[in-house]
Amino acid sequence: MSITLFSPAKLNLFLRILGRRGDGYHELASLFQAINFGDTLTLTLSKWDVLTSTCILIPCDDTNLIWKAVELFRERSEISFNVAIHLEKNLPIQSGLGGGSSNAATALWGLNELLGRPFSLETLIGLGAELGSDVPFFFSCGTAYCQGRGERLHNLEPLSLPSPLWIVKPQCGLSTAHIFKCLNLKECAEVSPEDLLQSFIQGRPIYHNDLEVPAFRVVPLLSELKTRLINCGYHNVMMTGSGTSFFCFGDKRPKQEAGWNIHPASFVNRQENEWYSLS
Ligand code: C5P
Repeated sequence: MSITLFSPAKLNLFLRILGRRGDGYHELASLFQAINFGDTLTLTLSKWDVLTSTCILIPCDDTNLIWKAVELFRERSEISFNVAIHLEKNLPIQSGLGGGSSNAATALWGLNELLGRPFSLETLIGLGAELGSDVPFFFSCGTAYCQGRGERLHNLEPLSLPSPLWIVKPQCGLSTAHIFKCLNLKECAEVSPEDLLQSFIQGRPIYHNDLEVPAFRVVPLLSELKTRLINCGYHNVMMTGSGTSFFCFGDKRPKQEAGWNIHPASFVNRQENEWYSLS
């Protein structure tokens, strides 16, 4: 038995960091959106566990979040199974696009389907939260207001795209933990996340990311990239997550330049009982 699933990237249309918590994490409020740029995972119930990938940069051992998801599923379901997983990797790593988290969520969903749905959606969200702060979002329907560490989800109606969307990925990457460490809370915006959320619901979106300031301090080139995209006429140019990818809107495809990759994208949502798909 086998299942092939699309594993979408996410954008943080806005991201506010509200404070530091006792457990070392940060309290955040963010509007997450799934997009049609992503990876593909094929899971096959098999005689042994194996993970293969099209990307040599990705470890296929038990440090991969996909394997952590498999182990957690096996432990909590108490079902004895083995699975062969093939990952067709398109998403860049250390990009703020949530690729690893999406792969883990997709693996949990796929296993749940292959093994007769032992877990409810709420349980999958809980398992996801144990694996990483961004994992639960992927169990929303694709547009969600997330709070807490990122694990408290509030599903929203799908948003329409204001104009063609572009993902711009510079070659350098950034570690999420490092950017959070470099964050000075005094530098965060004062605008309330509820006002930002309302701006999207009312169709006058205000994009914002509190992690741009520390990311630009660590890699000044990112600020130059943002300015260049704005000067080229793109609007709402914003870094996603802890970087280093940006998204921006504009009619024309940004020019391919040495040092960055461009991907066209659009928003994607899923039906309640189905996973994300490209059709
Ligand atoms: O949850 P995840 O393992 O993806 O987070 C990676 C790192 O990012 C954490 O170890 C933490 O340093 C930081 N982080 C944070 N607050 C969050 C999410 C992540 O400080 N809400």
